Amino acid sequence: MEKKFKRTTVTAALPYANGPVHIGHLAGVYVPADIYVRYLRLKKQDVVFIGGSDEHGVPVTIRARKEGITTQEVVDRYHNLIKESFERFDISFDVYSRTTSQTHHQLASDFFRKLYDEGKFIEQTSEQFYDEQTGRFLTDRNIRGECPRCHAPEAYGDQCEKCGATLSPEELINPYNAETGNPLVKKATKHWYLPLDKDQEWLERWILEEHKEWRPNVYGQCKSWLDSGLKPRAVTRDLDWGIPVPVEGAEGKVLYVWFDAPIGYISNTKELCEKNPERGSWETWWKDPETRLVHFIGKDNIVFHCIVFPAMLKAHGEYILPDNVPSNEFLNLEGDKISTSRNHAVWLNEYLDELPGRQDELRYVLTANAPETKDNDFTWKDFQARCNNELVAIYGNFVNRALQLTQKYYDGIVPARGELTAYDEQTLAEFKDVKEKLEGLLDHFKFREAQKEAMNLARIGNKYIADCEPWKEIKTNPERVKTIINISLQLTANLAIAFEPFLPFSSKKLRKMLNMESFDWDELGSTDLLETGKQLAKPSLLFEKIEDETIQFQLDKLEAIKKANEEANYKAKPVKEVIRFDDFEKLDIRVGTVLECERVPKMKKLLKFKIDDGLNSRTIVSGIAAYYEPEELVGKQVLFIANLAPREFKNGLVSEGMILSAENFDGNISVTTVTRPVKGGSQVS
Ligand code: 2FM
Ligand code: ZN
Repeated sequence: MEKKFKRTTVTAALPYANGPVHIGHLAGVYVPADIYVRYLRLKKQDVVFIGGSDEHGVPVTIRARKEGITTQEVVDRYHNLIKESFERFDISFDVYSRTTSQTHHQLASDFFRKLYDEGKFIEQTSEQFYDEQTGRFLTDRNIRGECPRCHAPEAYGDQCEKCGATLSPEELINPYNAETGNPLVKKATKHWYLPLDKDQEWLERWILEEHKEWRPNVYGQCKSWLDSGLKPRAVTRDLDWGIPVPVEGAEGKVLYVWFDAPIGYISNTKELCEKNPERGSWETWWKDPETRLVHFIGKDNIVFHCIVFPAMLKAHGEYILPDNVPSNEFLNLEGDKISTSRNHAVWLNEYLDELPGRQDELRYVLTANAPETKDNDFTWKDFQARCNNELVAIYGNFVNRALQLTQKYYDGIVPARGELTAYDEQTLAEFKDVKEKLEGLLDHFKFREAQKEAMNLARIGNKYIADCEPWKEIKTNPERVKTIINISLQLTANLAIAFEPFLPFSSKKLRKMLNMESFDWDELGSTDLLETGKQLAKPSLLFEKIEDETIQFQLDKLEAIKKANEEANYKAKPVKEVIRFDDFEKLDIRVGTVLECERVPKMKKLLKFKIDDGLNSRTIVSGIAAYYEPEELVGKQVLFIANLAPREFKNGLVSEGMILSAENFDGNISVTTVTRPVKGGSQVS
């Protein structure tokens, strides 16, 4: 951190209280923010870490209507669930409050009013879509209609998912309310706009010139917004859920959620400081130019934190602006986008229940695979491999060896170091600059590389102990072993410090085993962290293997959800063109009894049937080998077309007809049959 700052305010995007948080949120925002804050605290820097739930906006109201409960019930439920999950995961917020709090309503309302009184907004009346039956204006996403380009019937007001066209609701043919299906009319409504066009110049200077150090993805997105020219943005909405617009004549209108949510960071700081006067005045954390403000967010929040919120803060006039906005890209899950609506996610609360005590494992994998520069994929197999091959086999293994050998040879007492060999010196030298290396990375929000560097220490330790083979030396050269163990223990103590920001649970456990009361970031790299003669506690394993069953359970769960979704979303194909009865009569459909059924050599997809058709037996070949074991079908009565022209396959096999089968929504095939036994050759009509 540069000299000019005395303290740091760290914020993590406020999650919408319309569902639990998932691994995408954790990897994108909360784990990196927590690493950073823990690092600053370890360095004894003055820092507050602000979190909370975002409880306004359309998403929570939609959820309430879907579940048939009140919006307040929705936000209560999810705020509590999210807060509790964060606590169990030990995201070390100093405060986790909510935007429905009294403090927040007051502060956000005052903020708006100040800007209003100073003439910082423009007032504008425009025609917007309105549902007369519900008495509600609709947001773009809540409007559906026919796509003007590809004529798909259910395009959204902002985009057609069929052809990908970006749309505005005005372009839709026959727009309707997505939730109720009601037709919409246009109605005039007044709103207040933040004239961002007037901020263009200073924002360009501030971001593009003065903050070239921002991550390329953040800088790039800002540049592209600025290059296309900023336009005024409405900061109020016609909605019955939110903070009322504190202006006469604004009844039925609330502050736009993206206006109030970032102010939530300030309100939550205020709440923290009012309850804990030792944290100083909330204003110091937000108004003192010696405070450094850092926002951790996901990439879909960049414009709001880098352009809109700074413009609001500047318009207000009393606040500092963010110094950095480290935003991550997205995390996918098993090759597919994480989706709340499709329930394709790993929910934190479920993870905590299903893999109890495995917080550090998830933290480790999410950082090792963090989407810092590009979208990344989380897979359960990779999770298992990283836990078992890295946490267990490298870090855990080294620590366990060092501690077990200390127990075995010295009853858990740190032995004295004797003379160092060249190899000892070399190993210690590899440790010396770890603090500098980690700081260089952490100060620049490179958490993924920083964690790698910490793991590298464990690698060095592992190699050292394996190379020195104390278990062999103990018989021939016991003095030498004391040195080896002492050095191994010093490395172990270093690991407890180095990993603390990343893996706080195991770090704590390790410190307990080492009886390490004080631990100080500044001591990182020291080879005298544990004094000779110190009694260590009884060791236990730092990490345990993740078993195949645990992974399979998670994979099966995702698969089951996918299936349930496909089933729920399945729509039968439109009916084909009408045919005449005599066309139908041309088809000779019959019941046949399967006499034999077998696979066809070299033709993986085919099954060959011998069918009793009432007159003769005939051969029918069908491409359903992937769906049935041949034995399953022998003796069954199946429907088949008896008068279809024979068809010859590549290998000379001829099929005399076609067995009728149905394709399920998931692509599975089911052969058709009759509900009561009939004579082979019976006609179907
Ligand atoms: O994208 C989201 O989940 C928003 N609820 C983030 C808000 S961040 C801040 F402004 F509160
Ligand atoms: Zn379209």
